[in-house]
Amino acid sequence: MRLNLSLKYPQIIRSALLLGAFAVAGTSGVVLVHHQTKERIAANERAELLRSLHEIIPDSAYDNDIVKDSLQVTAEALDGKEPSTIYLARKRNLPVGAVLTAVAPAGYNGSIKLLVGIYYNGSLAGARVVSHRETPGLGDKIEIRRDPWITIFDGRSIGDPPIAKWKVRHDSGVFDQFTGATITPRAVVNAIRQSLLYFDQHKEELFMGRPEQKSNE
Ligand SMILES: Cc1cc2nc3c(=O)[nH]c(=O)nc-3n(C[C@H](O)[C@H](O)[C@H](O)COP(=O)(O)O)c2cc1C
Repeated sequence: MRLNLSLKYPQIIRSALLLGAFAVAGTSGVVLVHHQTKERIAANERAELLRSLHEIIPDSAYDNDIVKDSLQVTAEALDGKEPSTIYLARKRNLPVGAVLTAVAPAGYNGSIKLLVGIYYNGSLAGARVVSHRETPGLGDKIEIRRDPWITIFDGRSIGDPPIAKWKVRHDSGVFDQFTGATITPRAVVNAIRQSLLYFDQHKEELFMGRPEQKSNE
C-alpha cells in the first residue's frame, strides 16, 4: 500500500524525514567504506610485514603463524623507550628463531629502525633497515636496495666475531664502515650486537611465553 505523504504530513515533516533518511544512508556508507578500507590497510600491512620477515627467515623454515606468535617487550637493549615486537618462528612446536624489532638510537640523523632475525642457535639470519633519516648517498647504504652492506652480518653471532670486535673497523672492530660515514654503520652494528645479546640472554623465556616485560637489560 502506498502512503500518501502529502496528505498525512505537512511539507516540513516530509522534508525532515527525507533529510534524516539521506543522513542515515550517507553515514552508513561512510562507516562501511571506512571499515573496508581499514581491513584492506590491515591486510596490506600484514602482507608487507610478512614479505620483510620472509626476507630474513624464509617461510619454509617455520610452520606457525609468525605474526600472531609475537610478543612485546620493553628492553633497553632493543629500544628502551617503546615496546619492541618479537616474532617467533617455530616448526613442529620447536623454536626456529625470532625476528626482533630494534632501534638504533644514535644514527647521524636520529633513530634507525631495524628487523633483526636470529636463529635459535644464535646465528644471525639477517637484518634489514625498515626506516631511517640518514643522508642519501652517505648513510643510506644501510638499505639493502642501495647496497649489500647489511648482509655482512649474516651467519655471525655473539662470539663470531668476539664481542669486543663487534664494532666498525674505525673502532677496532671487524665490520666495514662507509667512506666518509662512520656514524650510521656504527649505530647499526651496535643495534645488531645488542639484539644478539638480548636474544642470547632471553631466548628460553621468549619461547616459553614468559618474556621479561620490563627488562632493563
Ligand atoms: C651534510 C652531511 C651529511 C652527513 N651524513 C652522514 C650520514 O648520514 N651518516 C654518517 O655516518 N655520516 C654522515 N656525515 C659524516 C659525519 O659528519 C662524520 O664526519 C662521519 O660519519 C665520520 O666518519 P669518518 O670518521 O669515517 O670520517 C655527514 C656529513 C655531512 C657534512
